[in-house]
Amino acid sequence: MLNSVAPGRYAHVVGWGSAVPERVLTNAEIESFVETNDAWIRERTGICERRIASPDDDTVSLGTRAARRALACADILPNQVDLIITATSTPARFFPATANLIQDRLGATRAGAFDLLAACTGFIYGLGLAAAQIRTGAINTAVVIGTETLSRIVDWQDRNTCILFGDGAGAFVLTASEVPGGVLDVVLHSDGSGGDLLTCHTGMRSFWLEEEASRDAIHMSGREVFRFASRVMVTATEEVLERCGLEPEDVSLVVPHQANIRIIEAAARGLKLPMEQFAVNIERYGNTSTASIPLAFEEAMQAERVHSNDYVVLVGFGAGLTWGAAVIQWAARPTRAIQLRAILQESWYILARVRSLFLRFLRFIGALIFRKSDTER
Ligand code: COA
Repeated sequence: MLNSVAPGRYAHVVGWGSAVPERVLTNAEIESFVETNDAWIRERTGICERRIASPDDDTVSLGTRAARRALACADILPNQVDLIITATSTPARFFPATANLIQDRLGATRAGAFDLLAACTGFIYGLGLAAAQIRTGAINTAVVIGTETLSRIVDWQDRNTCILFGDGAGAFVLTASEVPGGVLDVVLHSDGSGGDLLTCHTGMRSFWLEEEASRDAIHMSGREVFRFASRVMVTATEEVLERCGLEPEDVSLVVPHQANIRIIEAAARGLKLPMEQFAVNIERYGNTSTASIPLAFEEAMQAERVHSNDYVVLVGFGAGLTWGAAVIQWAARPTRAIQLRAILQESWYILARVRSLFLRFLRFIGALIFRKSDTER
């Protein structure tokens, strides 16, 4: 995907952040309303608990918090951002896009913003697009966000699916640099013939039908998705590594989509890599779809598992069917933990809120004036 690039121009990940709701839902709690048990869920999926968004939270609020943390980590102010890509399967609204609302809350006034739907592979798709935009010279700085409230589209009576999913958000900040490395390459794939294996209808109804459309939930053919996932985690990783002239043993860390620990174990076996080389946090968050890779990545960074010049693979799969992988060559950057900048960033977000309210107020006044002049005509 990143073959035609401007020479000497690289796209580096310079900031990362995440946000999860406070409320924890344990396996034991799920036992109380659906026929399942903690031992089965742990053994078959590796999940012990997940986070569930409060009624006040949505993909916009979670995504905004993750993006703010990533920007603070990057030491970049929102007015330096050129592009915001939000990958989500659970947008708060059909439109405007979640990305537009996040852009407003960040006060990223120069940035273009759009949502992207590639289900759980969405973060890899977003990363690939952002890196390509940077490497061709079209933009300098991008924020890629994965944000989900899957708890709102899960059927809590369906034990095949309700045990798996959780809510959360994660974000990366990417910038252009002359330092070789960064996002080296990305492979993206799709096979829509498998679309029915994992699906959630919109609930829209035809003008010609009389019955009310019912709100839909996630439907999944678990075993088939499992087989597909175990296969493509290996093939996508091998493909992207080959394009970079690398072998699996060159990789220091694999950050896989967190859907089922057995899928990650199958990928490790297929790539002949030890499980210690995989970032895993599924036990605490379940499958957070587009948020799972940046969430696991942030934990790996906190644990200091990534060092200068390391090759890191991000690999994911999901509904669509979609799958993809990215290779990042990590470049050390000086930490600039400047307290003053943090205060400036907080003030920036307050001003962004005031600006947004002021613009809404101006629109309201404008509408009143037009209505008055219309009635006088
Ligand atoms: N608690 C207890 N028993 C359950 C259960 C649950 N939550 N869910 C299913 N079972 C039962 C099934 O009914 C079945 O019983 P049966 O043999 O009497 O019919 C048995 O467990 C085995 O079911 P199976 O579907 O073969 O289980 P599994 O080992 O494949 O695990 C999944 C099911 C869903 C965990 C697994 O298939 C999976 O993770 N698939 C991939 C899902 C995924 O990654 N989705 C997201 C993609 S982004």
